[in-house]
Amino acid sequence: MVELTEFDSRAALFDRLARTMSAVVRDKPTAVLGLATGRTFVDFYARWVERARADGVSFGALRTFNLDEYLGLAPGSPNTFRAYMERHLFGRADFDPARTHLPDPWVPDPGAEAVRYERALQGAGGIDVQLLGLGNNGHIGFNEPGSSFASRTRAVELTAETRAQNAADFAGEAVPTRALTMGLATIAEARRCYLVVVGEAKAGILARCLAGRDERYPASALWGHPGLEILADAAACSALENLGDRVRRTKHAVRAA
Ligand code: GLP
Repeated sequence: MVELTEFDSRAALFDRLARTMSAVVRDKPTAVLGLATGRTFVDFYARWVERARADGVSFGALRTFNLDEYLGLAPGSPNTFRAYMERHLFGRADFDPARTHLPDPWVPDPGAEAVRYERALQGAGGIDVQLLGLGNNGHIGFNEPGSSFASRTRAVELTAETRAQNAADFAGEAVPTRALTMGLATIAEARRCYLVVVGEAKAGILARCLAGRDERYPASALWGHPGLEILADAAACSALENLGDRVRRTKHAVRAA
């Protein structure tokens, strides 16, 4: 059974997720969080920082591990996921830089870096809560279609589709052809996962992913995970039909003001 919560708007979705994530940090200030990038999370991170500030919650003791990082960019490039995280989250709140982790794309041997990153995650006790976006081809992290559900953190080739999707955000450099990413088995070990899907452009791929567990649709590696919730706006749900009893689809109830 897959839990899917549908929201009228992305603002309502981000508000609910910001409250949830602020409560996670309040309840366990030393939590280990798995973080994602992409356009989906830009407004969410702003909302979360605002919510945490209103709740008087500190991010200073958290440990964070990002899902992925490009290989082959210049050090200091504004296009790295490290730079994205600084811009949209780490630089806007009281994160401890020594406790925020992304794969290091500049070590000579990316394979060895992947192994080190996977070990660091295990060493931290695993991920308490993982945030995930959905690629237009169903990827999570940079696990492209065909990735094994048993995959671990590793270096991967990006598909032309993914490179085209991300080109819109790129300034001044070619979109890399390779990246380091947590694997699907790595992600599935997180105790809780929130898969965030917004916008009409994701409606078709969300419907295809929900048809069943299938390695052509990497996000479907998570179906059956007891701690998974899909958060989607109405636009992203617009192509869903005949979900049967595989998916429990709940409308988010709007709180009275
Ligand atoms: C990117 C990232 C993913 C992200 C996805 C969706 O390539 N590697 O972690 O979730 O694509 O991106 P967006 O939110 O911009 O649609």
